[in-house]
Amino acid sequence: MNQIDLNGHVAVVTGGAQGIGQAIVERFAASGAIVEIWDVDGELAAETARNIGATVHARAVDVTDAEGVAAAAKAAEAAHGPIDILVTSAGVAGPNHKTWDYPLDAWTRVMRINVDGTFHCLRAVVPSMIAQGYGRIVTVASIAGKEGNPNASAYSASKAAVIALTKSLGKELAQYDIAVNTITPAAARTRIFEQITQEHIDFMLAKIPRGRFLETREVASMVAWLCSAENSFTTGAVFDLSGGRATY
Ligand SMILES: NC(=O)c1ccc[n+]([C@@H]2O[C@H](COP(=O)([O-])OP(=O)(O)OC[C@H]3O[C@@H](n4cnc5c(N)ncnc54)[C@H](O)[C@@H]3O)[C@@H](O)[C@H]2O)c1
Repeated sequence: MNQIDLNGHVAVVTGGAQGIGQAIVERFAASGAIVEIWDVDGELAAETARNIGATVHARAVDVTDAEGVAAAAKAAEAAHGPIDILVTSAGVAGPNHKTWDYPLDAWTRVMRINVDGTFHCLRAVVPSMIAQGYGRIVTVASIAGKEGNPNASAYSASKAAVIALTKSLGKELAQYDIAVNTITPAAARTRIFEQITQEHIDFMLAKIPRGRFLETREVASMVAWLCSAENSFTTGAVFDLSGGRATY
């Protein structure tokens, strides 16, 4: 494993109780950062934090609650100092339906968590990054946001929104030493698979030229570099983790 230096940095990883977020928390902790997990599953977040080590802390946060997110940012800063790294991994897949059959409540839930939730975290953390003149942000989109997966219109549309949100913010913050980038992973076997059909899982695997699922540690590796001081130029960009699927 390459060494990434995150000593002295304070990171927040939403959705860090499990899956991709957890792998990022582990990599950040191994790189010297103090890390807060913000996850709606507070118990699992606490267990994950305990298992990783003393520099990892857990907070029960529902990213759809803008006031709760703002309060969490204040509390985290009071406990550890200014947040200078943010990764927004909290997200849901939603069920698989044709667009015209997509249940209205499921559509709204996917948008609330994936899009509004990301926005709430960004707005809570960016002002203190501007005050510090430093920050590293990675949002978690998906290859679905570039390509539009059939039977996953809500998810695909939500991740396209995350990509555009990231590009807008990257430009707004480009005059500071603040980098804002997004990643577009292909499928990684996590508990998010429980939300989708086997047919859809098979479709996603068949689309990956490498012929296997992405490993969460492979995501963490890219994110750790994107969140390091060495990533001092690239911003507002989309980083591929699709095993050869993406052609742009
Ligand atoms: N696994 C994949 O195949 C894959 C592929 C591309 C993108 N992604 C994206 O990566 C991110 C992480 O996915 P994962 O596979 O680790 O999923 P996961 O289900 O393993 O973990 C998601 C975490 O987000 C938390 N969460 C859900 N709603 C929340 C809310 N309202 N507030 C706070 N936390 C909330 C969950 O409790 C869970 O711990 C998601 O944004 C997902 O869309 C996943």
